[in-house]
Amino acid sequence: MKIFLDTANIEEIQEAAASGLVDGVTTNPTLISRVEGKFEDIIREICEVVDGPVSAEVVSLDSAGMVAEATELAKIHDNVVVKIPMTKEGSKAIRELAGMGIRTNCTLVFSANQAFIAAKAGASFVSPFIGRLDDAGQVGMDLVREILTIYDNYCFDTEVIVASVRHPLHVVESLIAGAHIATIPHAIFEKMFRHSLTDKGIDAFLMDWEKVKERQGG
Ligand code: G3P
Repeated sequence: MKIFLDTANIEEIQEAAASGLVDGVTTNPTLISRVEGKFEDIIREICEVVDGPVSAEVVSLDSAGMVAEATELAKIHDNVVVKIPMTKEGSKAIRELAGMGIRTNCTLVFSANQAFIAAKAGASFVSPFIGRLDDAGQVGMDLVREILTIYDNYCFDTEVIVASVRHPLHVVESLIAGAHIATIPHAIFEKMFRHSLTDKGIDAFLMDWEKVKERQGG
């Protein structure tokens, strides 16, 4: 499964990318609002750090406006994937952009029908928002499993990005479901490396190693 970082913070992206484990980045208008700088410059800088798909979202609500914005965003860097919201207008834009060779990530997906339409329209990626479904009292990962089954049944090559990831267990569930990608906030990426028993084990080994050194005369 590929790991994308769900942030627009360049320090977080640089730090995580140094691990060699980051395959792409997703942003949205909320994440962009949390960092300084011009939208286009932020996206360009991210593309220069991570050699993989970098999602940048349009804000128009009509398909013509979305296509116009997407065309400009795609010029920023080859890594740019244009995030388009799942609406009827969005599906029209996705279809048109696919014809132009511009990759899209259909976002704000909350149902299997929406994911089906996104794939049929030609989206390169689809982003079901798992945490927000959990918040609404629905099991978000059930939607991921449904989408993967549907895409498998009909050989869609749209990749499923598990989005709105809120805790490390969402990542484990994504892996077990066979999702193509999980997009992960930096804080959760950090947590994936950690276990208190690992820290305790290292401390104990180092303490015992001191005894070995003493026995060997320093
Ligand atoms: O990738 C979409 C993600 O940023 C949404 O996450 O936590 O705002 O639901 P959240």
